[in-house]
Amino acid sequence: MATTEIASTVPAAQGQIADSCVMVIFGASGDLTKRKLIPALCNLARDKLLSGEFAVIGLATRDLDTESFRQKLSEEVRDDTTTPAEAAICDWLLQRIHYVQGSLEDPQAYQRLGAQIAAVSKERGIRANHFYYLAVAPRFFGEIVRQLGAAGLAREDGGNWRRVIVEKPFGRDLESARALNADIKQVLAERQIYRIDHYLGKETVQNLMVFRFGNGIFEPIWNRRYIDHVQITAAETVGVETRGGYYETSGALRDMVPNHLFQLLSLTAMEPPISFSANAVRDEQAKVLNAIPPLTHEDVLSRTVRGQYGEGIIGGAPVPAYRAEANVAPASSTDSFVVLKLNIDNWRWAGVPFYVRTGKRLASRATEIVIQFRRAPFMLFRKTGVGDLTTNQLVIRVAPSEGISLRFGAKIPGPLMRQGAVEMDFCYADYFGSNPSTGYERLLYDCMIGDQTLFQRADMVEAGWTVVTPVLDVWQALPPRSFPNYASGSWGPKEADEMLERDGRVWRETGTA
Ligand code: BG6
Repeated sequence: MATTEIASTVPAAQGQIADSCVMVIFGASGDLTKRKLIPALCNLARDKLLSGEFAVIGLATRDLDTESFRQKLSEEVRDDTTTPAEAAICDWLLQRIHYVQGSLEDPQAYQRLGAQIAAVSKERGIRANHFYYLAVAPRFFGEIVRQLGAAGLAREDGGNWRRVIVEKPFGRDLESARALNADIKQVLAERQIYRIDHYLGKETVQNLMVFRFGNGIFEPIWNRRYIDHVQITAAETVGVETRGGYYETSGALRDMVPNHLFQLLSLTAMEPPISFSANAVRDEQAKVLNAIPPLTHEDVLSRTVRGQYGEGIIGGAPVPAYRAEANVAPASSTDSFVVLKLNIDNWRWAGVPFYVRTGKRLASRATEIVIQFRRAPFMLFRKTGVGDLTTNQLVIRVAPSEGISLRFGAKIPGPLMRQGAVEMDFCYADYFGSNPSTGYERLLYDCMIGDQTLFQRADMVEAGWTVVTPVLDVWQALPPRSFPNYASGSWGPKEADEMLERDGRVWRETGTA
């Protein structure tokens, strides 16, 4: 295959240089800054996409100053594998990083921040564009935006922009998401709000749009006439790691479904947008989410499955049960696994179920979308049972080995007419190579150039919670009796398989190419 030809037509870096600006990180001494944000900024600098007039100001409660903050980051982002070229880029960035110590609730801290922004901008000739990254616990989102407003730091004047990136979780149910939207809109216009979902930074997720709308052959069959059902899976082998405290307040449904999995679902199911402008794409995504009928109480019993992992074996080693993890209640009823069977009530999808599944401590790590096509309409090969006929299956692998494969039936060589399943497989890395990336590069860059396409709009977030909240309500009213109900290293509770069996379907053996 012409892999090298295709690869050579893709330049290392594409696009315009981001606007001159100051990035402010709230909660800068935390995990996200060192694990994702600084490495992503280094990668943007490597690709020459950051403006030379750029600076970062970290704000956190920890007792640090600019020098010690730079030192800390430098130790955290470098390791034995850092090459001299990478180290040079990292140094370039570190010289542009500053620190303001302060409490998120203290108005004085915002005064100091304002003064620091002004000083750094003057020193580096940066235009008065600022964006604020809220890498903090969700209870501070509203407060920070209010304080920014009070300190005049959110006001756009003289053609300069102010933007705010809000991390997840955005609310914990419909009511709290609405309240948070209302709160921050007291200070910010929707065009200033960037609700981040890191799934949209993944190449394969963005490729969904190109795959569907950049090719003429798929769209005509992308509907109820040809598609039997869709499976969307985000399976993880990790447990809650160090996040037991957070996870106890969240669970798998809140943590993954209204955001990440609904992004995958809406991009898979949406109508072609009239353009690739942010609002045109998000209008179509919102329509899909609004077309999912919220589950009734009875539906929740028959169309959802929840689970919690017990102990088991992962990668050959024993791992503890969820209830034995740090900061988890010994009798916790928090879900670490969920399946929802959803409908999309519109002309394209009526009668086509979307099975959405996610869980921790499962048998393998795989995030993928499976489009299961209908069977051939009649039996041409008399000796082949209908159940043996291969059905066509399109698998869009989001992680770990990004790619797309199409399964179809082929004749098994030999004198008999026997059919077997074969696969055409496209693997991203084979064609395009792999460039180290955190997934945050594109999202930070888009914020700096003012493109909101890959960020969630208020109505999308609320539409997601509208679907999920009735499930949370029923689950809360009926605490689970059988937790833990799946062993670590398995594919979740047996009810997840039984749900598909009742419909005459099976889960794809996820994790296989
Ligand atoms: C996060 C969730 O948003 O996404 C985590 O809070 C989850 O619980 C993670 O592990 C999964 O992201 P990825 O990119 O590893 O699939």
